[in-house]
Amino acid sequence: MRKYYITEKISRYEIGNPIETEAVINKGDKNYPGDFKYFNIEIGNEINLNYKMNKDDKVYGLGQNMRGINKRGYIYESFCSDDPCHTPEKKSLYGAHNFFIIEGSNTFGMFIDFPSKVTFDVGYNVRSNFHINIEGTDTNIYIIEGESLKEIVHEFLKIIGKSYVPPKWAFGYIQSRWGYKTGNEVEEIANKFIEKGIPLDGICLDLDYMDDYKDFSLSEERFSDFSSLNKRLKENGIKIIPIIDAGVKIEEGYDIYEEGIRGNYFAVDKNNNPFVAAVWPGKVHFPDFLNKDARLWFGRKYKGLIDNGVEGFWNDMNEPAIFYSEGGIEEAYRNIDELKKLELNVDSFFKLMDTVNNLKNNVNDYKSFYHKTENGLVNHYDVHNIYGYNMTKAASEGFDTIDENKRFLLFSRASYIGAHRYGGIWTGDNSSWWEHIVLNMKMMPSLNMCGFLYSGADTCGFGSNIDPELAIRWNQLSIFTPLYRNHSALGTKDQEPFAFDLEVEKIIKNTIRFRYAIIPYLYSEFMKAVNNSDMFIKQLGIEYQDKLSKEVEDQLLIGDSIMIAPIYEPNKRGRYVYTPEDMLLWKVKDHTSKDFEIIKKGHNYIDIDINEFSVFIRKNKMLVLGEPAQSTKDINSETLNIIAFVENEAEYTLYDDDGISNDYKKGINSSIDITISVDRDKHNINAVNKGNLEVKRLNVTIITGEGKIISDVVNL
Ligand code: GLC
Repeated sequence: MRKYYITEKISRYEIGNPIETEAVINKGDKNYPGDFKYFNIEIGNEINLNYKMNKDDKVYGLGQNMRGINKRGYIYESFCSDDPCHTPEKKSLYGAHNFFIIEGSNTFGMFIDFPSKVTFDVGYNVRSNFHINIEGTDTNIYIIEGESLKEIVHEFLKIIGKSYVPPKWAFGYIQSRWGYKTGNEVEEIANKFIEKGIPLDGICLDLDYMDDYKDFSLSEERFSDFSSLNKRLKENGIKIIPIIDAGVKIEEGYDIYEEGIRGNYFAVDKNNNPFVAAVWPGKVHFPDFLNKDARLWFGRKYKGLIDNGVEGFWNDMNEPAIFYSEGGIEEAYRNIDELKKLELNVDSFFKLMDTVNNLKNNVNDYKSFYHKTENGLVNHYDVHNIYGYNMTKAASEGFDTIDENKRFLLFSRASYIGAHRYGGIWTGDNSSWWEHIVLNMKMMPSLNMCGFLYSGADTCGFGSNIDPELAIRWNQLSIFTPLYRNHSALGTKDQEPFAFDLEVEKIIKNTIRFRYAIIPYLYSEFMKAVNNSDMFIKQLGIEYQDKLSKEVEDQLLIGDSIMIAPIYEPNKRGRYVYTPEDMLLWKVKDHTSKDFEIIKKGHNYIDIDINEFSVFIRKNKMLVLGEPAQSTKDINSETLNIIAFVENEAEYTLYDDDGISNDYKKGINSSIDITISVDRDKHNINAVNKGNLEVKRLNVTIITGEGKIISDVVNL
C-alpha cells in the first residue's frame, strides 16, 4: 500500500496497480507517513474493509441508490445496473458512486475509486459492522477528514472537480415520452403547451425518432423536416433533445456501423471480433468508450444532429444494458432443448423461467468482452462502472470539437464519479408510485454529495400509470430539482400537464410557472454550488447540527435560502414539518401568492391543500424571483421580486451569467449584492449591481421577525 497526501485533510491509499478512472483530478504525490485509518483492511484476492459503527453513527452518500439519506441498515452494490423495477430490496441502480461519510464517534469520508463491483454492507448482516468488499486487488482509497459533514463534502467535491453546467435553458421544464412517434406529434405537443400557456424549454425524443433504432439516424418517414422542425420550435424557445443509445446496430450499409468496424472502434470478444449483444435495435456492437480513438470517433458523430439544430442529448442504455448476447442466447436455446426432453413440472417450468430471465444483463456477458485501453486489453467486467461515464465523456469531448465555448445539455443514465464533470444524470426507470417520489426526494442530496448537481428523476414516473394527485405532488417536488423532466414509458397513461382534468392541469401549470419564476434563484444557487464545490440540494443535517435535523429525511434545503417539505403521500392535506429555527412559511398557489406565516422553531403541523405547496425561507435569508415566462428565452430580467425574512440583517448575492457559453469558467459573470436590514420601525435595502445584469427594479417584500410586512421598491 502506497500512501499519499493530497491536502491536510485528504490522504490516498494506493493498493496494487489501480486502473485509472479519472474520477479524481487531484491525486496528490507527497508521501503520507501515517497509517490507514478507521477501517480495518484485509488485502487478499479481494479487499475487505470493516468498521465498527457506534450505535448512533450515521452513514451518508453512495449517490444513486435505494433507501434513505442515512444508508445504515442495508446492503448496496456498486455495479451499474439496468433494472427498471426499483423495488425496496434492490441493491444497485444505474450509477456507481462510491463516496460516503460516516458521522458519529469518528466523522470522516471515504471514496473507493474502483471501477468494478464494490459491496457496501452498512450494518445489514451485522448491525454494528460496516463491511466493504472490493472485488479485486487494485484500487485507490481516499480518506477525507474535516470538522463537519459540510467541510468533508466540500473537500471531496474539490478533488473530483467542478460539476458540469448545462445551458440555462436546461433549468426550464422538459417534456418527454417514449412514444412521440412523429415530428407532427412533437409539434402538436409543443403547440399545446404554448396554447395553454404552460412553460416549456425542451422536448425529449426517445428512440422513435431514429430509423430502426440506429444511433445518429433520423427516420425520414416520421421526421422528414427535422431541421425546420427544430427551427420552428426554437423560435418559441423549445429545444429538441434526442436520445442516443450505447449500442450501434449491426447493419451493412449503416455508416456508423461500417465506420466502427473499419476503425476498430467496437469492444471485442475473446477472439478479437466485435462483441455482439442485443438491445433495442436488435444485434449491436458496443463502442469501446474506454478507448480514446473510439471515444473521439463516437463523440464527433453528435455533430450530424447538432448541424440540424440540436443543442442537447440524453445518453441511454450505457451500463451497458444487454438484452441478450449471442453466446447467452445459444446457451439458453440449448438449455430449453434439454428442458423440452423433460416432463414439464414445477421444477422444469421454473428452470425454463430462469433460463429466459437470466438472459438479460447477465454477468457472464459482462465478463466476455474487452476494451482496448492505453494499458492493453481490459476485461469489461473489471471496468464495468466506468463504461457509461466514458460515453458521457465521449459526447462532451465531441461537443468541444464543435464549439468549445458553447454549453450543450447532456444527461446520462449510467454514471460513475467523474462523469459529473461532463454531464448530468437522470435517475432512470422509476415508476408512477408514491414510493418513488419518496425515493426521488431522498436520493437528491446523496447525488449532490457525489458531485451530480445537474440531476433529477422522471417526474410523474416512467413505468406504471400516473394518478392525478401524484402528478401534482411530483411536479411540486421537481420544480426544485435542476433537471425537471416529465418522462414516461411507452404504453403508460399520458402524463403531460394537460393529460388530466382542467383543475389538475391548472394546478400543474401554476407549479411549472412558479419554477420559471424561481429560475433566477435556482440558477444563482446552482452556480454558486458549482463554483464553490458545494452541494445544491442538501439534507438538513448539513447546515443544522441539532439531533433532529440529522434525522429528518423528508425535508430538503434548496440552495442557501430555502427549505422545502414536499407532500409525498396520497390524500394528504398537510404534514408535520420540523423547523430547526424560526422560518417564514410561504404557502404557494402560484408565484403571486401572499400567504406568509412565521413558523417557530420546533415541530409544526402545516396545512397544505392539493393546489399548494410550501416554501420555507430561512431566517435572515431571502428568495429572489423573477416572473414566469413561456420559455427561459422569454424571461424578463428587468424586475426581480424579493421575499426576505429578516430578523436583523439578510445578505444575498444573486449570481448570473450569459447562460450559454463557458465564459463562466473564466470568472465572467454578473452579480447583485443585496443587503436588507431591519431595526425596529426602520428598514434599509442596499443593492449593488456588479456587472451587466439587466435588472432595473427590485420589488422587495420584507417579513420581519415580528411578522410585520414591509413592501418597498428599489430602482437600480
Ligand atoms: C430505457 C430508458 C428510458 C427510455 C427507454 C426507451 O428504458 O431508461 O428512459 O424511454 O429506454 O428508449
